[in-house]
Amino acid sequence: MSKIAVLTSGGDSPGMNAAVVSVARSAALLDMPLIGIKRGFSGLIGKYTKTEDNFLEMSMDQILDIADLPGTYLRTARCPEFVQLEYQQKAAQMLRDLDVAGLVVIGGDGSFRGAQALSQQGIPCIGIPGTIDNDLGYTEMSLGFDTAVNVCLEAIRAVRATSRSHDRPHVVEVMGRNCGDVALTAAQSTGCEIVVVPEVEGWQVDDVARRLNSLIERGNTRATVVVAEGAWRTMAEFDAYEFLHPLGARAYPQQRMDAVTFARVLQAKAASDETQIRATVVGYTQRGHAPSARDGAFAFEAGTMAVNLLKHNISNQVIGVRSGRTFHMPIDTALKAKPHFNRRMFNMVNAL
Ligand code: ADP
Ligand code: F6P
Repeated sequence: MSKIAVLTSGGDSPGMNAAVVSVARSAALLDMPLIGIKRGFSGLIGKYTKTEDNFLEMSMDQILDIADLPGTYLRTARCPEFVQLEYQQKAAQMLRDLDVAGLVVIGGDGSFRGAQALSQQGIPCIGIPGTIDNDLGYTEMSLGFDTAVNVCLEAIRAVRATSRSHDRPHVVEVMGRNCGDVALTAAQSTGCEIVVVPEVEGWQVDDVARRLNSLIERGNTRATVVVAEGAWRTMAEFDAYEFLHPLGARAYPQQRMDAVTFARVLQAKAASDETQIRATVVGYTQRGHAPSARDGAFAFEAGTMAVNLLKHNISNQVIGVRSGRTFHMPIDTALKAKPHFNRRMFNMVNAL
């Protein structure tokens, strides 16, 4: 069979390297040469002057040791021009020139839209979900989600230890652009008392303050508020400057809400002047870790499934997990599935 190619695209996520190695091992077993496309769709449109910055022939020797490494060996990039037909045609032509019979795209929903566009240009594509956000509605898990939650778990446990020592509540911001899965799962698994997610449009600062104050009143002086970064966008309007400035707290006009500002606001709204509230942003450490066992195992299975599908001329599919089992379905259908928000667990965390 002719060659296949693989690329990683969008935000990097733990397990991308493991999936690439799995694709490479499966391809090697079937004597299918493998091309690694560098920097997502950017490499595919030949954006860089040096050929090796766009793509490379992959040998097992080269990549044998990368499976458990964090980051993505193939690099990743966002390639805004790829939404244009002209560039999709250019990429399809490049793959035909390279004699590539199928492409494995590892990324999130944006990357899958790129794969969908390429499949419309006649390139057989398979998508492997790779995003820490877990915002793909068709699958229960995507590569990197479990690892990111585990990184948050470590961070939150450490935060709660120092919070306990000082009787200080804490705001912890975690990633999640439109999806609160990392925040909610991390809050559930560490026993945090408040979680704020982007799915709840128009959530109120005062509601969080009220809940925190009632926890403090009941003797919980080290409660943790976990906030998914995307929730700052869906918060009901609240002028932090107008509120904080007259109280002498640090603030500037048009200040956007963030973890530190939120902690200051909650502190100012606390019943006692003694209450001190601190903030921690977990940030990119969530993306830069080696994959957990769960992500590594899924990467292995997804990589082998991707190559086998291409070998059997089944294409334009994405791989996912449903009821704990790895499966595949058409890209078009998968992209229509709405992300699932576990409102029941969200309510439980904020109520118990
Ligand atoms: P993710 O794959 O993690 O969702 P992005 O949304 O940033 O990340 O998308 C990654 C890349 O996928 C984009 O930079 C672009 O190259 C490509 N892409 C996104 N949306 C489309 C689209 N509608 N059509 C074609 N390509 C797209
Ligand atoms: O989609 C994954 C993600 O890590 C989001 O949680 C976050 O909002 C975004 O990527 C950050 O993207 P960038 O790498 O462009 O800063």
